[in-house]
Amino acid sequence: MIVAIDGPAGAGKSSIARQAAQELKFDFLDTGALYRAVTLATIRAQIDFEDTQALVKVASEVELEWDGDIILLNGEDVSGAIRSPTVTDAIRFLADEPEIRRQLSAQQRRIAEGRDIVTEGRDQGAEVFPEAECKFFLTASPEVRAERRLEQLKSEGRHLSFEQILTAQNKRDLEDESRPVGRLRAAEDAIVLNTDDMTPEEVLAWVLKQVREVMEKRQTQ
Ligand code: DC
Repeated sequence: MIVAIDGPAGAGKSSIARQAAQELKFDFLDTGALYRAVTLATIRAQIDFEDTQALVKVASEVELEWDGDIILLNGEDVSGAIRSPTVTDAIRFLADEPEIRRQLSAQQRRIAEGRDIVTEGRDQGAEVFPEAECKFFLTASPEVRAERRLEQLKSEGRHLSFEQILTAQNKRDLEDESRPVGRLRAAEDAIVLNTDDMTPEEVLAWVLKQVREVMEKRQTQ
């Protein structure tokens, strides 16, 4: 069974998806981590981001392995390295490229095959797993998302201003929403939830309730 959770950056979908997978005893796939790892590979290979052919070549040659929260790039644990701002800033060059999306989507389908899995990203319900049994689109207003990010960074000892975070987030939203292929959008049959006035615990409980209802229905069919 596939549970697809999509939504914009900072909507809290990663931690909800991760915790939902744990509660349901499903596997968890962070598809953003795959895009990040391939981006890191191209940065290390010093590829010119305008050289689409070279990007596609590196992307097709890298070996990605994934185990829960750990992602291996050609055998090396890059789980921390893929979160750097340098990687975040460069992702769009790869995420905008249809051939790279095709390869990574195929890889995501291979990973999910035959598993119970919670998969999280931008295009999971609408493009990669249109047949997913449960589709959620978690969102929140830009201000609330930026405020949550501010608090998260503070707790990690990093101090950015609200305006800096909001500006970077607006830029990412625009990139994610205007991508020619695989843009951020809710699938037509996704349940859209605005989490502005909800605690993470409430969002998790709500997601779990919906999934369990679908699981029960499947069992009685
Ligand atoms: O979820 P994240 O912040 O780690 O994702 C980083 C970027 O990767 C995101 O801004 C766009 C891209 N991405 C994508 O294009 N498709 C996905 N399914 C997941 C991420």
